[in-house]
Amino acid sequence: MVAATGGNPQWTSRFAFLMAAIGSAVGLGNLWGFPFRTGQNGGSAFVLVYLLCVVFIAYPILMSELMVGRHKGLSAIESTSQLAKDAGRSTNWGIVGIVGVVGAFLLLTTYSVIAGQVMAFGVMSVSGGFSGGATAGFYDGTLMPLMWHTVFMAMTIFVVAQGLHNGIERFVTILMPAFFFMLAGLCIYSLSTGASGQALSYLFSPRFHEVTPAVVLAAMGQAFFSLSLGCATMITYGTFLSREENIAQSGGVIAGADTLVAIVSGLMIFPIVFAFDLDPAQGFGLMFSAMPAVFSEMPGGAFLGGVFFVLALVAALTSAISLLIVAAIAGQNYTKLGKAGSAIVFGGLVWLVGASTIFISGLGANIDFIANSISLPLGGLLVAILVGWVAPSAAMRGELPNSSDRLFQVWRFLVRYVAPIAIIITLILGLDQRFGFGLNAALSSLAG
Ligand code: PHE
Repeated sequence: MVAATGGNPQWTSRFAFLMAAIGSAVGLGNLWGFPFRTGQNGGSAFVLVYLLCVVFIAYPILMSELMVGRHKGLSAIESTSQLAKDAGRSTNWGIVGIVGVVGAFLLLTTYSVIAGQVMAFGVMSVSGGFSGGATAGFYDGTLMPLMWHTVFMAMTIFVVAQGLHNGIERFVTILMPAFFFMLAGLCIYSLSTGASGQALSYLFSPRFHEVTPAVVLAAMGQAFFSLSLGCATMITYGTFLSREENIAQSGGVIAGADTLVAIVSGLMIFPIVFAFDLDPAQGFGLMFSAMPAVFSEMPGGAFLGGVFFVLALVAALTSAISLLIVAAIAGQNYTKLGKAGSAIVFGGLVWLVGASTIFISGLGANIDFIANSISLPLGGLLVAILVGWVAPSAAMRGELPNSSDRLFQVWRFLVRYVAPIAIIITLILGLDQRFGFGLNAALSSLAG
C-alpha cells in the first residue's frame, strides 16, 4: 500500500494544490461545454440554474471528496473503505472509490481523443494551414485522430509518471497562471472587436420559459463534470492535502474559479461567433470547424488561433493529468507497479480503449454516456451517502475544524438530503433521455 508504507506525498504549497485542483476543474467543459449549453438552454435562466447546482450540490460534494481523501490519505478505494470501517460498517463501501476510479478511466479514454483533436487544430492554426482555405476535413479518417490521441496520452503519461512534485505540481504551477493570462487577453480582444452586445444578450438575457427538466438535467451534469466530481479525482487530490488546509474555503476558491472561467469563456467565444454570423447552436463542431475558419480571416489570425487552441490544450492537459493519477494510484495500490510503471501501464490501457473508439463506431458515444450520465452522478451520490450517512459524524467534523458549527450543519444537511435527492432525479432523467420512458416529455408538458 502506497500511503501506509511510504507515507503519502503532500502538496508543497497551498498555491500548488489550488492550481492543480483548478486545473482539473477547468477543462474543455468550461471552454466549450458551458458557453454552448448556456446558449442552448435559455441564457441566463440556465446560468441561474447552473449556479444553484454548483452552490447547493456540487460545492458540498467537492468539499466531501476533499474531506474523505484527506481523512484517510490512502488511495481513493482504500480511503472510502477504511472510512466506512471506522464507523463499524462494511469495507464494501470501497465501492465508492471503485465507481470513481472506473469513471475516471472511462472519461479519460474519450477526453483524450477530443484533446488530440484540439492539438491538431492548434498546430494547423499556427502553421497557417487554415488560411489556405483548408477546413476541418483534414481531420477526417482514422490516422490523424489516432496519431493525436497518441501524442496527447503520451504527454499526460509523461507528466503523471514523474509524480506529484516533479510532474504535476511543476506543470500546473506554470501552466495555470499562463492559462488565466491568455484567457483574459483573448476575452478582452474578443469583447472589444467582436459582436459583444449580441453575445451578452445571448448569454445573459433571461429566457425562463425555456427552463425544462432537460435544462435542469444539463445544468446538473455540467456542474458535476466541470468540477471534476464523482470520479475520485478530488478524493485523490485531497489525499495530498495538509491538515492546515481549510477545505470549506479552498473548495469555494476552486468552485468560484471554475465558474468564472466558464463565464469568461462564453464572453470570449460568442462575440466572435456572432461577428462572423456563425450558428451558435452548432455544438462541439463549432470549436473545430467554424472557429478555425474565422481565425484564418482575422488579422493576426494564425497567432490568435494558436493562442485559442493552446488555451484549450492547457485546460485539457491539466484535467487529463488529474484523471490519470486516479487510475495510476489505484493501480499502484493493487499491483506491484511503482509510480512511473503504474502511470505507463494504466495510461497505456486508457490509450488502447481510446484508440478503439476511433475505429469502432458508436463505442465512444456509449462510453461517454456511461461515464457522464451514469458513473459521475452515481459516484457523487455514493460520496454523499458515505459522508452523510455512513462515516462517523465526528470524523467529518474534524475535517472542517476552522468552520463554524452552523456551516457544518448546513453542509451536512446538503449532503444528507438535498444532494442525494437531486442526484437521483438527475440519474433517472438521464436514463430517460437516453432510453425514452417518456418522463422528460411528461414533466415538460406538466410545466407547460
Ligand atoms: N472538469 C473537467 C472539464 O471541465 C473534466 C473532468 C471531469 C476532469 C472529471 C477530471 C475529472 O473539462
